[in-house]
Amino acid sequence: KVVELANYHPTDFVLERVDLTFELDPTNSKVDARLIFHRREGADATAPLVLDGDELTLSGLLLDQNELPAEQYDATPQSLTIRDLPGASPFEITVTTFINPEANSQLMGLYRTNGVYCTQCEAEGFRRITYFPDRPDVLAPYTITIIADKAANPLLLSNGNYLGGGNYDEGRHFAAWFDPHPKPSYLFALVAGDLGVVEDTFTTMSGREVALKIYVERGKEPRATYAMDALKRSMKWDEDRFGREYDLDIFMVVAVSDFNMGAMENKGLNVFNDKYVLADPETATDQDYANIEAIIAHEYFHNWTGNRITCRDWFQLSLKEGLTVFRDHEFSADMRSRPVKRIAEVRHLKSEQFPEDAGPLAHPVRPTKYREINNFYTTTVYEKGSEVIRMIATLLGPEGFKKGMDLYFDRHDGDAATVEDFVKCFEDATGRDLNQFSLWYHQAGTPLVTASGAYDAAASTFTLSLEQRVPATPGQPTKEPMHIPLSFALILDNGSVATPTAVSGGEVTGDVLHLTEQKQTFTFSGVSSRPVLSLNRSFSAPINLHLDQSADDLGHIARHDSDLFARWQALTDLALPNLMQASRDAREGKEVEASPALISALLETAGNHALEPAFRAQVLALPGESDIARELGSNNDPDAIHAGRTAVLKAIAGAGRDLFQHLLSETRTDGEFSPDAESAGRRALRNSALSYLTYAEQSPSIAAKAFDDANNMTDMLQAMTLLAHRFPDAEETSAALQAFLKRFDNNPLVIDKWFAVQATIPGAATLGRVRALMENPHFVRGNPNRVRSLVGSFTFSNPTGFNRADGEGYRFLAEQILEIDPKNPQLAARILTSMRSWRSLEPQRADQARSALLSIDRSSSLSNDVRDIVERMLKG
Ligand code: ARG
Ligand code: ZN
Repeated sequence: KVVELANYHPTDFVLERVDLTFELDPTNSKVDARLIFHRREGADATAPLVLDGDELTLSGLLLDQNELPAEQYDATPQSLTIRDLPGASPFEITVTTFINPEANSQLMGLYRTNGVYCTQCEAEGFRRITYFPDRPDVLAPYTITIIADKAANPLLLSNGNYLGGGNYDEGRHFAAWFDPHPKPSYLFALVAGDLGVVEDTFTTMSGREVALKIYVERGKEPRATYAMDALKRSMKWDEDRFGREYDLDIFMVVAVSDFNMGAMENKGLNVFNDKYVLADPETATDQDYANIEAIIAHEYFHNWTGNRITCRDWFQLSLKEGLTVFRDHEFSADMRSRPVKRIAEVRHLKSEQFPEDAGPLAHPVRPTKYREINNFYTTTVYEKGSEVIRMIATLLGPEGFKKGMDLYFDRHDGDAATVEDFVKCFEDATGRDLNQFSLWYHQAGTPLVTASGAYDAAASTFTLSLEQRVPATPGQPTKEPMHIPLSFALILDNGSVATPTAVSGGEVTGDVLHLTEQKQTFTFSGVSSRPVLSLNRSFSAPINLHLDQSADDLGHIARHDSDLFARWQALTDLALPNLMQASRDAREGKEVEASPALISALLETAGNHALEPAFRAQVLALPGESDIARELGSNNDPDAIHAGRTAVLKAIAGAGRDLFQHLLSETRTDGEFSPDAESAGRRALRNSALSYLTYAEQSPSIAAKAFDDANNMTDMLQAMTLLAHRFPDAEETSAALQAFLKRFDNNPLVIDKWFAVQATIPGAATLGRVRALMENPHFVRGNPNRVRSLVGSFTFSNPTGFNRADGEGYRFLAEQILEIDPKNPQLAARILTSMRSWRSLEPQRADQARSALLSIDRSSSLSNDVRDIVERMLKG
């Protein structure tokens, strides 16, 4: 059951060509697959051909067009084994299967969504369509013929370039596609149905014109224009920044309403969760716009990092995902504010990946075994994988990084490559040894770096002592020291940066210090006055840093560092101890205090017009309850954390009331809505001022007024959230919730926001509300977006509601998992990971959580997906 990297072998047979014919029918689609193979040179001449399947029944099997005698093959739902095949000469296998798209509730393979046929094949969905060597190192060109009822399916799409089409029999028509670029089966896609389209063109750097098409449900075309704009900007950016040009005549995006993940990079035919395509000012928030821009870019960038160069096996998933996340992060940084983007990335990394790395589900960026590959589409593989690439860029500098990337594209185009292949390109291009650095791919756990600085005035030296420790993680009890690149600055009294005359104790390149030993001391000479150390600027390494700094020193960084990220980090470091202490005090029933140093630093930053509004909003959005829980580490009481944090926010609100009032009036925006980053930043600042004011005023009236005045979804949703979260039982709140439902009840994506706002109302009463909402006709159990916005928001984003002291939240989750799992195991397994930090709860809650996990574990009919997660969570 467990797949191990150490057992990797190339296939015995080489696949030369794939020719697929689909006769689509909602419940009984016929699939003919003609596959041309030859035995690999050097392979065992008697080895059988073993093809993967998943819930398949074989209906026909030909070898070179002749029926195969029964004794020459074995077919089960999971595999097709064919014996006595030719030694060297190519042969053709024709496999016929019938599948039922309508009954496919897993949303893997070929399925139906709102009357549209679509596919999701990554990672192992293709084997639900036909028997096939369904692994990423088997690459071939594909020819696809689709036959379907013409009236119901005017559109017949697949990968590659359009070959032609025409009428067929009995009201059916057909279309043929050819994808000349050899690809693995996980990049196959087919879409058929009746959809509207937004069209445009893009002229590539070598002057080729590419047709761009975004398909959406009819009537929703106007909501796809932002995605189209993002696509054109992505294509241009990849040419400018990475020299990558698109390689087919057409690039298509299809938005569907039932989708397990965000989107999928199928060659030339991306399929998207419609949540990441559709937007207009009335229905989409600024966050929605930013997500669409990032995900459109991400999937487009996969064309080179993923498709042209794919993965040898699924252990290499981060080869394409980490790299493509890095590329989409850089794209968004160039399109928007780089420091604000970096702050958002780090917030996300710390709130999602750090807990994963610190809990029972921790795994390396490049794992060595898995039981269910779908469970490895994680923030570790994606986001930490991206951070590892960012560190390579930091180590090598922009030129070295570019040389390495160019070599990678050049050397591995057309390959199914490994992480080692990738790293070697950077070594070969620059001569730098990345052997120790590669531990970032292999050792799980977030390194903890403890640092302390000392200034010697007499000697004019500054000494920095560093120590690193990588915590034990499941399967990895002991760790080696890592190569950790730490960007730093020694900031002098007047705000300028010290330029030491010499440094000893280790390598320093530019403003990057290389920590490579377990303990290391760097001494900087020629530092004429006491500096303040700013360390891990821009979050150059994804670590936990313990550096004791006084409030004065943090304040100095917050005022003077030229790296805005470091300023934000300093303010966060000022806030966290206060928030942690507040949680402890609240738990003991003591009076909670907000530190005057924190209040003044926050208000000073919030009112500083020299700083961009989006940055000021990020500063005002103090660490969240889950951040505080993570920092506290163990024996957590979510109610106390909530109470403590709320008290600190109220104190800040009281002290800053005038400022917030002022910010509210000066950020008022009338006129045309624009989703650009600067306007979004102004809305973010305005909305955080509004949030503090509702704490200061203690009445729903300002939020209710903001709700009535809102002329875009960002403002409306924030006002509704403040009403629901601060005044759940107020009349104003139920009026707003009702008005919102009525206004948007024909738009499921907006109703998802309505579900999520209510599911995240703090407190024990919310579970009852969630149960009631599950009876709402807008809640559709089979739709992943609906389930995530109601059930997922509750379990992932409502610490006090979900972690009710009586354990009812956990029992609710167990009940939901057992209900979702038989229909959609991937979705069930994903939602179950919301319990990944259960061991850091206080003992009573932890006990309740364990019982709930055990109740899932006791079920005899779990999917492999949920079985894998629940067993790791109970064991690790
Ligand atoms: N490759 C896709 C992306 O990140 C994710 C697809 C994952 N799908 C899955 N069923 N695990 O862009
Ligand atoms: Zn991806």
